[in-house]
Amino acid sequence: MNRVRFCYPIFILVSAGLVFLACGSQGQDSPADQAVSVAQELPEAPPPWAYIIGPEAEPREDDGTKVTLPDSSASYTWTEVRSRFDVADWHPDDHPPMPDFVTHGRGPDIWGCGYCHQPNGLGRPENAPLAGLPADYLMRQMADFKSGSRESSGAEGARSRRMTQMALLATDAEVRQAAEYFSSLEHTPWVRVVETDTVPKTHVQGMWVPIDPPETEPLGQRIIEVPEDVERTAFRDPRSGFIAYVPVGSVAKGEVLVKTGGDRVVDGEIERGRTVRCGTCHGDNLKGIGNVPGIAGRSPSYVVRQLYDIQKGSRKGPWNELMKEAVARLSEEDMVAIAAYTASLAP
Ligand code: HEC
Ligand code: HEC
Repeated sequence: MNRVRFCYPIFILVSAGLVFLACGSQGQDSPADQAVSVAQELPEAPPPWAYIIGPEAEPREDDGTKVTLPDSSASYTWTEVRSRFDVADWHPDDHPPMPDFVTHGRGPDIWGCGYCHQPNGLGRPENAPLAGLPADYLMRQMADFKSGSRESSGAEGARSRRMTQMALLATDAEVRQAAEYFSSLEHTPWVRVVETDTVPKTHVQGMWVPIDPPETEPLGQRIIEVPEDVERTAFRDPRSGFIAYVPVGSVAKGEVLVKTGGDRVVDGEIERGRTVRCGTCHGDNLKGIGNVPGIAGRSPSYVVRQLYDIQKGSRKGPWNELMKEAVARLSEEDMVAIAAYTASLAP
């Protein structure tokens, strides 16, 4: 019997929300087995840990004191460091000169792109890393935001609403200027992946931040990304990155899915896994090929949001057709594993 065909009806049953039998053998727990067994239906509501929506950091009183950071000759007040239209740049020598549009945006509704994505383009878990991605790819995303074909799942697409608004207002020349700048930047290591069962208890302050005084809680099947140093991140220090806590075993499980799609040979026949090899399009080192973006070393919460949004069809620009086969049968747990693995790679 052709096992490939055997797996299709199972997926259809899963989509219909019916009870199903998983393809693949059960009761074994090597990463390879986990990658092909139990397919779960993706929940309707997006995983709240990846879709951060919540209060910004508490406003601080600005008494005019200029703050400095290690190795930077710049100094900014709390208000200056949070200026949306004159983006603070602690290390101008770390990158080519920022174009006017990236620093200042165009008020009142287009903030400087460097405010959220940072002058180094590495971004934060709640937005997106842009550094080093192909300029054509970045412009394509702006076009997709503008046309409404790139939305964010959950909470009426609130997470991507600002991007859509800015993409509608920006001119082609402005978009090109920003895309060429971010594309010219090097994506340096920015996220440190740590496998663990227990994480610091966090709350949303624009992003996940450990509560004070500290407590711990079980991680479960989540990824929690927190600043390496909350205070340095509060001051938007471009040299202080993030820790991504991921479930124990997820990196190895993700590696199997990414490298094999979860396919394996059973009784001499190829049993089809729940995804397809990512390297075919993203390159064997996942650093991207041509106009296909790199996915190595990027924020795992961001990656989970994209896999979820593409599967659910809220991200549906023309080039996402190519991603359909890769995401169609993924469970939330698979997405966690894939993102844990890709984030653990050198960008
Ligand atoms: C208010 C914060 C904010 C500002 C300012 C901002 N962005 Fe974004 N950007 C986001 C968020 C949030 C996302 C989507 C993340 C997601 O899909 O989960 C995003 C995503 C993107 C993406 C898609 C990245 C990818 O890998 O596909 C591009 C391209 C982008 N932004 C470009 C820009 C440009 C150009 C500007 C300046 C006009 C800008 N952004 C300003 C928050 C911002
Ligand atoms: C058949 C080609 C193809 C395969 C196979 C493929 N991808 Fe993609 N992927 C693409 C293309 C093309 C895009 C860009 C879509 C766009 O322009 O909006 C993309 C985009 C993405 C993005 C969004 C990147 C960003 O910056 O927003 C992620 C994450 C991703 N792919 C992950 C994966 C993973 C994980 C796999 C394997 C499980 C995979 N892809 C397999 C073609 C592919």
